[in-house]
Amino acid sequence: MTSHPLIEQFTRAGQAQVFIFFNQLAPDAQRRLLAEAAEIDLAEVERLNRTLVLGRAAAGVNLDGLAPAPYEPLPEKGGRAADWAKAHATGEAALRAGRVAAFTVAGGQGTRLGYDGPKGTFRVTPVKQKPLFQVFAEKILAAGRRYGRPLHWFIMTSHQNHAATEAFLAENKYFGLDRGRVHCFRQGRMPAVGFDGKILLESASSIALSPDGHGGSLRALDRSGSLDLMQGEGIDMLSFFQVDNPLVRCIDAAFLGWHEVSGSEMTSKMVPKAYPEEKVGHFCRQDGKVVVIEYSDLPAATQRETDAGGHLRYVAGSIAIHVLDREFVRRVVRGGAEAALPFHRADKKIATIDADGNPVKPVKANGVKFEMFVFDALPFARNAIVIETARADDFSPVKNAEGADSPQTCRDDQLRQFGRWLKASGVSVATDATGLPAQAIEVSPLFGYDEDSFAESWGKLPVKPEVVEGLYLG
Ligand code: UD1
Repeated sequence: MTSHPLIEQFTRAGQAQVFIFFNQLAPDAQRRLLAEAAEIDLAEVERLNRTLVLGRAAAGVNLDGLAPAPYEPLPEKGGRAADWAKAHATGEAALRAGRVAAFTVAGGQGTRLGYDGPKGTFRVTPVKQKPLFQVFAEKILAAGRRYGRPLHWFIMTSHQNHAATEAFLAENKYFGLDRGRVHCFRQGRMPAVGFDGKILLESASSIALSPDGHGGSLRALDRSGSLDLMQGEGIDMLSFFQVDNPLVRCIDAAFLGWHEVSGSEMTSKMVPKAYPEEKVGHFCRQDGKVVVIEYSDLPAATQRETDAGGHLRYVAGSIAIHVLDREFVRRVVRGGAEAALPFHRADKKIATIDADGNPVKPVKANGVKFEMFVFDALPFARNAIVIETARADDFSPVKNAEGADSPQTCRDDQLRQFGRWLKASGVSVATDATGLPAQAIEVSPLFGYDEDSFAESWGKLPVKPEVVEGLYLG
């Protein structure tokens, strides 16, 4: 076989099979394969094989000493109104000082939704059919206008959707944002391995690589220079949210303020679970730290546990919305073993090739993918706190083609929100018992992004429109 330092390294690591077809490849294909191989940290793969694949694979998540995490309830749910007001004012001051940036993780594949294309290009709003990216861009634009400081927006993409994401944003002129403040960067990739720990090939000239999970966003923020850019701009807080949730308050002054007032390095929002076995992560406490345990790792009986008053004990559902300190991210990424995010193992069907180089489409799981989760940074954060938010104002993701968390449920939740705002401004809106308006209406985030900003714009309208089918307030 041709000699090359990388090939030698792979051979020494017991991964020579990656280059088994190397000599038969054209020079271009050889270069591509070597470039992919150079992305792989062989020591990391060796460690993951030892701990997750070949070792105690079935050991599962450690649930010792687990208890529900405390959280700061909303004022209307018993929280201290004065503390919420202080948090709000503190967050507004941070926004006026230009210390905040928005951060969307948009590297996922949208497989469950059955949509081909970057998920952020998926159209979600009830009247204008705006794509997810437009909804976020307009919310970020609106916040910049309100606080007199345009915000930077960081978007993490994957290798698969990076070019398409950038092209889409450019074609749409960044939906009104200054293009110099929109920063797309790619997340890292990890190789998939067989159950024997051997790195799998996708074809003779390419390795089976896949995104390293949204936890990879911390490394990617550093590697892409985003942390340095933030530092140069005087930004020290990142408002983190997922691309699948158009209801999210991308920029929420009270949330940012709680983070600041508590001296927290990572702050999270919770909603009370809609039902005991809702498929969300659970905020818990373990060894004095906040942790998130996925629904799939928490026994059903624990998910259903109630206290003496009949209330769910593990009630705090994670909706994947966080504030992260810039320097905390840097510490986790560069801090070495004590603060490194763990990888999780996912057994998957991985398209690969056989010993003769013929494609294999597996019918059952044939290997392992490795992913990091951003919430695994929580235990490393100083003073991590969790605050409550109203589901109706922050969370209605589009994950599945049908049923729960689908385009239909998300559209309905947007309609309910617009209906509530109109009603609060004294407009009569016909709704069903769930608050769902009978007619399609839509409010642009530039008109109003919460009840107060909506009321302000509504109050200024010289002529109030009748609420009719297709009303769009832009
Ligand atoms: C996730 C959370 C869950 C939470 C729920 C709320 C995990 C493991 N679970 O579940 O605790 O209650 O959201 O909606 O995250 N992404 C990337 N790169 C990747 C993988 C994902 O950018 O490599 C992004 C996706 O684009 C998406 C988000 O991360 O925006 C969530 O990923 P997904 O796999 O859909 O998580 P869920 O299982 O829905």
